[in-house]
Amino acid sequence: MADLSADLGFRTLKNPVITASGTFGYGEEFLPFFDLDLLGAIVLKGIFRQARPGNPPPRLHETPAGLLNSIGLAGPGSAALQEIIRRLHARTPVPIIVNVCGEDDDEFAEVAALFSAMDEVAMLELNISCPNVRQGGACPAQDAGHTARLVRRVKESLHKPLIVKLSPNAADVVAVAQAAQDAGADALSLVNTFLGLAVDLESRRPVFANVYAGLSGPAIKPLALRLVREVCRKAYVPVIGMGGIASGRDVLDYILVGASAVQVGTVSFREPAAAARIAAEVA
Ligand SMILES: Cc1cc2nc3c(=O)[nH]c(=O)nc-3n(C[C@H](O)[C@H](O)[C@H](O)COP(=O)(O)O)c2cc1C
Repeated sequence: MADLSADLGFRTLKNPVITASGTFGYGEEFLPFFDLDLLGAIVLKGIFRQARPGNPPPRLHETPAGLLNSIGLAGPGSAALQEIIRRLHARTPVPIIVNVCGEDDDEFAEVAALFSAMDEVAMLELNISCPNVRQGGACPAQDAGHTARLVRRVKESLHKPLIVKLSPNAADVVAVAQAAQDAGADALSLVNTFLGLAVDLESRRPVFANVYAGLSGPAIKPLALRLVREVCRKAYVPVIGMGGIASGRDVLDYILVGASAVQVGTVSFREPAAAARIAAEVA
């Protein structure tokens, strides 16, 4: 067997394949499909302090080789997720990563501190890059100054490694990456979805109520791979690459441009056990 271990500096994963937030539920839903411990780690769907209904439907729209989503970070709230994590951890030793969200900096810090205190949680991923919360796709990861302030603030009350998830929609993604690592990020992950638009010809209106939505899937892989390479050239912390991964070969592309690990997203919707297949293909 090849040694597939992935060194994140603060922790070594058994292999570099991690499931991406929002595409793998809260982990439990996938227990019937495969042994989650075949993966390096799993990231759960993003979580806020309180339960949220998310955006009105439609929330998904297929494009050639891609998927537009405007979920709006629907979720059960932090207290309910803590219960889910305890149940999940009792059934699998796979490292659990919580994707932390917030309407403002206070909420990001509060939610991060809450999950940082849980033994069952291996590390946190700060989702400063969701394009579907505010109209127009605004998020902290579009601005290096805001990113630095927020990461410093969140790190103050943290006992767990912090991955900061970057947006491909920033004007200068490398500058935001540098701001995040200088502010104390233990690792960087990218990319979140690319802002896109779909139009409904019947109604002559945008398909989504929020107008713009986030594009993921194989369509974004070359764009994401370029950004991951650019960030890796300047990063002194480990980088977790993602965007359109559907095979072991896709994983190797990301590793070759400098990523220490990867996340697998949209492919899990059409093939629930894709992440396990991909980990085996890497071997
Ligand atoms: C339906 C859907 C929901 C998502 N929800 C989240 C989320 O809650 N938090 C987050 O950080 N990223 C979220 N993402 C972004 C993915 O984690 C990932 O960054 C992106 O889809 C690119 O990877 P892929 O092309 O392999 O899907 C979501 C993506 C999709 C398609």
